[in-house]
Amino acid sequence: MSRKTLTQYLVEQQRKEQAVSAEVRLLIETVARACKAIGHAVSKGALGGVLGSLDTENVQGEVQKKLDVLSNEILLEANEWGGHLAAMASEEMETIHLIPNRYPKGEYLLLFDPLDGSSNIDVNVSIGTIFSVLHAPHHTSGQEVGEADFLQPGSQQVAAGYAVYGPQTMLVLTVGTGVVGFTLDREMGSWVLTDEDIRIPEQTAEFAINMSNMRHWEAPVKRYIDDCLAGKTGPLGKDYNMRWIASMVADVHRILTRGGIFMYPRDERPSGKKGKLRLMYEANPMSFIVEQAGGAAIDGNCRILDIQPDALHQRTGVVLGSREEVERVQQYHETA
Ligand code: AHG
Ligand code: MN
Ligand code: MN
Ligand code: MN
Repeated sequence: MSRKTLTQYLVEQQRKEQAVSAEVRLLIETVARACKAIGHAVSKGALGGVLGSLDTENVQGEVQKKLDVLSNEILLEANEWGGHLAAMASEEMETIHLIPNRYPKGEYLLLFDPLDGSSNIDVNVSIGTIFSVLHAPHHTSGQEVGEADFLQPGSQQVAAGYAVYGPQTMLVLTVGTGVVGFTLDREMGSWVLTDEDIRIPEQTAEFAINMSNMRHWEAPVKRYIDDCLAGKTGPLGKDYNMRWIASMVADVHRILTRGGIFMYPRDERPSGKKGKLRLMYEANPMSFIVEQAGGAAIDGNCRILDIQPDALHQRTGVVLGSREEVERVQQYHETA
C-alpha cells in the first residue's frame, strides 16, 4: 500500500479530528511548499550563489546570510496571496508583515524562523525552517492586526512544525494531535508520511549544550552538567554522551528521534539574561512539538508554553526533550 502524503494526512485530520480547519490545511500545505523551495535553494549551495553573508544586520544584531533573506522572501511570497493569513512575523523582519490589500485577509497569524542554524550554512551542516501558527484575534472595528496580536502564549498555537535540510529533507508537524514526520520524495516532489507517531523516549543519557558558555551559566546548570560529566550515571545506568550541532532544528530532530535533552539556558551575561533563543518562532513551536511527542520544555523553571510574551523578538532560556531529564534539570533549579 502506498504511503500517505501530507495532503492526505491533513485531509484526514480535517475530517477525523476536526483538528485542522480547511484554512489551516491550506496554510500548512503552502508553508510546506515554501520549505521545498528553500530546501532546493539550500541544496544548490555555491552553485546557486546562495552561500555567504550580506552586509546587512537583522533586528537580532546578527549579520544576515544570503539564505536568511532568501528564505524569508520565499515564505513571504508563498503566503501572501492564499487568503488564510492576517499577518506574518519573522526572525528576519523587525516588525510584522501585513497582507497587502490586493489579497484577502484570513484568520491566522504565521511566525517563522526562515533559516535556523545560519552559522552552519557555509559549512554544509544541516539547517532548517521553523514555523508557528496562531489565531488572529477578531477586531470588530475592522482595525488592522498589530504586533500586540502576536503576543500570545505558546499554548495558543494551532500548529507548529519545522523542515530540516539534511541528508534527507524532512518536515515534522503537529496540529495538536501528536507529531508526524514526512520525508521529501524528490522525484515526485511530495512530502511522504514516514513517521506516523513520533514519541520522545522518557529517559536519556545524551545532553546538548554549547559548553563554551560554561563560565556564564547560572549555578543550577553548572551543577547539572558537572554531575553529567562526573560520570554520575544517568537514569539509564550509563555515562552521559554529548552532542551540539548549533542548528536547533537538527538538535531537536535528533531528540525527537532517539531522545535527549537540549539546553540553551539563560546566563549571567547582559546579552544572555533572557537566553539566546527567540520565544515566538523558535522556543514556542519547538516546545509545542516536543510536548506533543511526550517530552517537556521549560525555560529553566517554568513551562515555555505558559510564558506570556511582551515583545515579538523576546528571548528565553530553553531546556527541552526527554521528560524525566527535563524534570531532573528543573529539580536542580528548585534546589538552587
Ligand atoms: P538562527 O540561525 O536562526 O539565528 O538560530 C541559531 C540558534 C539555534 O539554531 C542554535 O541552537 C543556536 O543558535 C546555536 O547557538 P551557538 O552558535 O551559540 O551555539
Ligand atoms: Mn533559529
Ligand atoms: Mn534564523
Ligand atoms: Mn539568526
